[in-house]
Amino acid sequence: MSLKNKSIVIGVTGSIACYKTLDLVGKLKKLGANVYAIMTKSATNLVDIKDFEKASGNEVQTDLFLPNIDYKDYIKKNKEIKHISLADIADLFLVCPATANIIGKIANGIADDLLSTSIMATNSPVLICPAMNVKMWKNLIMQENVAKLKKLRYEFVYPEYGDLACGYKGVGRLAQLDKIIDRINTIIERRNDLAGKKILVTAGATSEEIDPVRIITNKSSGKMGVYIAEEAFLRGADITLIRGANSVEPQYYFKDIKIYSVNDLFNKIKNNIKNVDIVIHAAAVSDFTIKNKHNNKIKSNENLHLELTPTTKIFENIKKIKKGIFLIGFKAEYNVSKKILIDRAYELLKSAEADFVVANDVGKAGRGFDVETNEVFIVGKDKKITHIDLADKRTIGNKILDKIKMAFL
Ligand SMILES: Cc1cc2nc3c(=O)[nH]c(=O)nc-3n(C[C@H](O)[C@H](O)[C@H](O)COP(=O)(O)O)c2cc1C
Repeated sequence: MSLKNKSIVIGVTGSIACYKTLDLVGKLKKLGANVYAIMTKSATNLVDIKDFEKASGNEVQTDLFLPNIDYKDYIKKNKEIKHISLADIADLFLVCPATANIIGKIANGIADDLLSTSIMATNSPVLICPAMNVKMWKNLIMQENVAKLKKLRYEFVYPEYGDLACGYKGVGRLAQLDKIIDRINTIIERRNDLAGKKILVTAGATSEEIDPVRIITNKSSGKMGVYIAEEAFLRGADITLIRGANSVEPQYYFKDIKIYSVNDLFNKIKNNIKNVDIVIHAAAVSDFTIKNKHNNKIKSNENLHLELTPTTKIFENIKKIKKGIFLIGFKAEYNVSKKILIDRAYELLKSAEADFVVANDVGKAGRGFDVETNEVFIVGKDKKITHIDLADKRTIGNKILDKIKMAFL
């Protein structure tokens, strides 16, 4: 991991978490980055400017208007005024910690100090790491501001649950520094390496109706697929996500289509596949649907017999719909040997004429459904295996994307 010669501008705002940003600056410097801090007035009340100068090795900027400059003279002589030069040199503009106030200002186009003006003036990616009291974070105005900024492609590392400096317990703690550094790396190193590629990702569980209020579904949270879609999006791909209606929400603003049944999913894939280069089919598709689906709510006072019939095998049909597409699927098994896991993934690969099948054993702790981590084996056409050891699903997602990039691009 190297950030050699990358310029990271850090906006430090008036949250108690700004002490942690000092550690972050040190870690980024160790990774080779040039770090420049802009502190708001509130931040300077919490941490000494000198501490950030020491940590970053650069002068800290705090003011838009400098005391020793005669601006009238500058204007008269038509001299260049470098009041927001950091906005131009940033490979990444980080706001860490980000107060409710700065998020509100960015979302509403307010530029009334050096930091907010520089953010408005930058063309660099902006990564916002909020830290605040749980009630402030949950405040609907705050959440609307975040949603608005996400749509405008500002990026976030969300705060985490835990004890807060204000004495409350809840979501609001600045995210772990390593998580922030991972995201910084992803943004800088991988930015635009999938630009121009059109990727369709399916994610989450399908659900088959028993009657208008009851469904049969599975435990998939959609995290693996949604995270792959998000990471590919951050790398510049043009994303269409088709996901089970109850899956996790994506953080970014791309084409996001919700589905319920297997048929619904299949139809949405058919309708959206035309211009797509790559399909990553991570949805957990129901193998059965209900034959005798009831149109009214079934009474609950007697035994109920359901007849299940097999559903369409979507994955095996994708290359039939679009021949030349690059196709990746997932194979989940429960508590099997590595050999069986890989053999079954390879059988699936052959029957779908896929390019890769990503196999995982959801019977093992920390792998598969509804957890943040996974361990996978990527099986290729030649049965060559790439093992990705237990890691968080975003890391796994990026490694799968790296593999696709090597094979396809
Ligand atoms: C000790 C202290 C800690 C604070 N911590 C936070 C915080 O974690 N998050 C937040 O949004 N505001 C926090 N505030 C309030 C902000 O400092 C305040 O809203 C200020 O106007 C933010 O200005 P800035 O965004 O320009 O830095 C804190 C205030 C004090 C006095």
